[in-house]
Amino acid sequence: MGKMILDVRNLTKRFGDLTAVDSISFSVESGEVFGVVGPNGAGKTTTIKMLTTLLPPTSGSANVGGVDIIRQAPRVRRAIGYVPQFLSADGSLSGYENLLIFAKLYDIPAQEREDLIRDPLHFMGLSESADKLVRSYSGGMIRRLEIAQAVLHRPRILYLDEPTVGLD
Ligand SMILES: Nc1ncnc2c1ncn2[C@@H]1O[C@H](COP(=O)(O)OP(=O)(O)OP(=O)(O)O)[C@@H](O)[C@H]1O
Ligand SMILES: [Mg+2]
Repeated sequence: MGKMILDVRNLTKRFGDLTAVDSISFSVESGEVFGVVGPNGAGKTTTIKMLTTLLPPTSGSANVGGVDIIRQAPRVRRAIGYVPQFLSADGSLSGYENLLIFAKLYDIPAQEREDLIRDPLHFMGLSESADKLVRSYSGGMIRRLEIAQAVLHRPRILYLDEPTVGLD
């Protein structure tokens, strides 16, 4: 058995009378690819929002490598990457500039930013488009940019909400 990286216990989210996530428990090992499948409205996005510290759980708990998502949210944010369900990149900036904002937000030292940004852009096949405005990108190119953005700081966990949307 490998090292456990994510441990979720009885995680629950209620919106008023609606129970969107009903006491789910699971754990994920380091290096494992873990998928969650369910119909529209099943609570997949709500679960990811709790695990990425964007939404407080109603009850239950989860930790990333022992770091609690509620009490140690800033440490959890440094350890994770997140590609949201809906496109979020800024169309009025270039691909490179979108990544530069993230590099700054993650406190990556100025002299390391350029290399750290070029790598994932290259990996996602966006080197040629890096200096074009994102509003001129296709849907799949924006998705690729968001994946590059989410892995920029070398997270221990990468969350992808509807990962195949828009990708060839
Ligand atoms: N902020 C909110 N306020 C009230 N209800 C919400 C909120 N966010 C989600 N819900 C409700 O919670 C339920 C779960 O929604 P969620 O977006 O997590 O589903 P999903 O599994 O991601 O669906 P999809 O496959 O359509 O993306 C739905 O009934 C939704 O209407
Ligand atoms: Mg969803």
